[in-house]
Amino acid sequence: MKKRRLKKSAKIILIAVPTLILFITIITMYLIRINTLSYKLHEVGYDKEEIEIIQEKLDEKTQKSLLDRPYNQSIPLLVKEPYFLQKNLESYLTYLKDHAKMKKEEVVGIVNVHADKDFYTDAIQSDTSLGDAVLVNKYYYLTQDYDSGNIEDISAQYAYDGNSIRDYVYDAFIELWEAGQKEGYTFIINSSYRPYEDQEEIYESYKDSYGTDYADSYAARPGFSEHQTGLALDIISYPVDYEDFEDTKAYQWLIKHAHEYGFILRYPEGKEKLTGYHFESWHYRYLGKELATKVYESGLTYDEYYAFYLDKKVENEETSH
Ligand code: DAL
Ligand code: ZN
Repeated sequence: MKKRRLKKSAKIILIAVPTLILFITIITMYLIRINTLSYKLHEVGYDKEEIEIIQEKLDEKTQKSLLDRPYNQSIPLLVKEPYFLQKNLESYLTYLKDHAKMKKEEVVGIVNVHADKDFYTDAIQSDTSLGDAVLVNKYYYLTQDYDSGNIEDISAQYAYDGNSIRDYVYDAFIELWEAGQKEGYTFIINSSYRPYEDQEEIYESYKDSYGTDYADSYAARPGFSEHQTGLALDIISYPVDYEDFEDTKAYQWLIKHAHEYGFILRYPEGKEKLTGYHFESWHYRYLGKELATKVYESGLTYDEYYAFYLDKKVENEETSH
């Protein structure tokens, strides 16, 4: 009798204990799952693919911040953009409110280069420690006493009267000029190093003749011009005028090969919203061969390239290279 009761109790224990363990495990797993960020994001409305991209690109704090707001389809779409920067998420969303139909790619580009703000708003002093990679545009400026290095006069063989440039940029240009000669093109420099005061004079004369809007689309305000760096050259071909240069074969050759000599076309056609300037077929910026090639191959304007890859304030793992 006693033996049978014992057997029965053993049987009960054998069944009950594993069942209890299984039950506790299931409950624990459930509790763990509903406490995961991915589950919570799912509850807000994001689907599996959206959660994957959010978790890949956003840090935990930003992911958690998405739990406090309604589902927003634009967020994963922005995050998916190759040049998305987490620090700009709120600015992308703000910009999108007034530009709902704009492609996410364009929104990301505009906000990254600060062009969601009016030109010359919240301008920052350029990081001159970057040397040849220094960014100068409508949001980054040089002080009047910026050191533009060793400026040399340019010989009449390569430039119209009164031009000068940093010594090593001169060497790079001569290399480019000789390559152009071999193809049958004679490049000539029309403008080059311009100290702060010269830029002021140019800007003011544009403004007086054509008004502020026109002046701002072709000339930088003093302190905001790449010409002050001694790293910018306005290159055309002899004897063509500025306006006609874009229709020449020399121009076609130059836009394809300038990076091989360290230069990039700085204000390309169709990128006016990003650069802040009307297309300038002549304005080249020296970055050195390596960086110029990277920028050329990226297809980005220098403003965008800088924002994504070089801005030290960017907290984005992908940017470290
Ligand atoms: N033309 C260019 C934008 C300058 O003035 O620097
Ligand atoms: Zn120029």
